[in-house]
Amino acid sequence: MDTNGYNWGFRAAGDLDLDGPVATLPNPEPQPMATASPFMRAGDLLDVVDGKHAETKGQQWDDFSLEGRKSITIGRKAGCDLVADRAYLSAEHAKITTEKGGHFVTDCGSAAGTYVNGAKITGKVHLKERDQISMGDCNYIYSAGRLVFAKNDADTTRSVLRKMDPGRRPVVLRADIKTKQVKNNNGAGMKELIRDIHLDVKEGTLVAMLGTAGAGKSTVMNCMNGMDLLGVQGSVNYRGVDLVHNFEQMKYLIGSVPQEKIFHPAFTPEEEFTQAAMLRLPGDTSMKEIQNRVNKTLEMLSMSGVRKNRNSKLSGGEKTRVNVGIELVADRDFLCLDEPDQGLSPNYKHELFTILQHLAHDYGKTVVSIIHDVSEIDMFDQVIMLAKAGGVGRLAFSGSPADARDYFGADIRDAYALLERTPEKFIR
Ligand SMILES: Nc1ncnc2c1ncn2[C@@H]1O[C@H](COP(=O)(O)OP(=O)(O)OP(=O)(O)O)[C@@H](O)[C@H]1O
Ligand SMILES: [Mg+2]
Repeated sequence: MDTNGYNWGFRAAGDLDLDGPVATLPNPEPQPMATASPFMRAGDLLDVVDGKHAETKGQQWDDFSLEGRKSITIGRKAGCDLVADRAYLSAEHAKITTEKGGHFVTDCGSAAGTYVNGAKITGKVHLKERDQISMGDCNYIYSAGRLVFAKNDADTTRSVLRKMDPGRRPVVLRADIKTKQVKNNNGAGMKELIRDIHLDVKEGTLVAMLGTAGAGKSTVMNCMNGMDLLGVQGSVNYRGVDLVHNFEQMKYLIGSVPQEKIFHPAFTPEEEFTQAAMLRLPGDTSMKEIQNRVNKTLEMLSMSGVRKNRNSKLSGGEKTRVNVGIELVADRDFLCLDEPDQGLSPNYKHELFTILQHLAHDYGKTVVSIIHDVSEIDMFDQVIMLAKAGGVGRLAFSGSPADARDYFGADIRDAYALLERTPEKFIR
């Protein structure tokens, strides 16, 4: 079974009023990693090319014939021949031309780049049968003079996800890390920070990462979000792309929210998000698109009512949300937060996790957060617990909060003490 090549970005021009073919999907509640699902991956698209998904044409996937067309455009702009519903893509991102000898793909100076079979292209590339053209997580397979692509746009996919129990959602990230070693701080030799971290994260879920001090939580998170993969042996597969080798292609989908407040105290949330959008979205994004994204971000974070208040005057919980919004405004799909609850009162913690849960369950964002306080642990879909054994960070548990209680035979609060005392007993 192929687990690669996730795609929920494309729809054909002319289908723009499509209001979600959810009811007609043959399998509205697919199994995780299933091949026949509304979440088609590049591997699924190759199956289409091989004639294995013929029955779902027009619902899950579609094709676009290049015959008789001198040049077609792919991009974010509604006027493109193939419209990709992704904020990180350029208005006209790539073009495919028909010339003597075949079809060629060229990147149109996009911000996020165009890839063919995983390699970023610079000039014009002659397409070969079964070539995979990718822009971030959006894929086209070139075959028999046509492009085969997943039909679901972001809204449709979100509405399909919303109907699925978080526990049954498809896997979006799979970490298979054998080890991560860095140069020792004292300059002598190498130091192993983490070992044997194998875990799955499902799309549109809220995940807590816990562990004793120095157990490697930040190290593992910085592997999952691709921010620090130096010295990693293994793979971190996000939407079918291994971040260890191809982080550049996927970085536009991943947001990393630091612990420290990174906003300007004299700005308002509205100004902060506008600035962030102008910096992070492609240069050809119009002011209207930016305003729409800012409004959407304020709405997603329940901050519309304080949009014009100064950041310095916001509550602790709202300040944390401004940090999140700086990533969200750029339409990141995968959000990693390092201890966002630190210093927040219990009420604000609950409020923050409610909003993170909303981002995951209702907007399809995948949210992984390092936390210390486990009082709200049942708000999370998955718990990842790390422990330090023999000086190395190891995986002690990955599963639901209820399963964690069974596994440790104790309240998760008490699991900390168990992991401190006898980590070897629990590492996987
Ligand atoms: N570049 C490095 N060189 C040497 N040791 C490092 C390096 N980075 C991290 N470490 C060590 O690796 C271990 C794991 O660090 P990490 O920051 O991931 O832990 P953590 O679980 O996030 O800790 P905390 O609870 O304090 O945030 C720690 O002992 C840390 O000192
Ligand atoms: Mg840390």
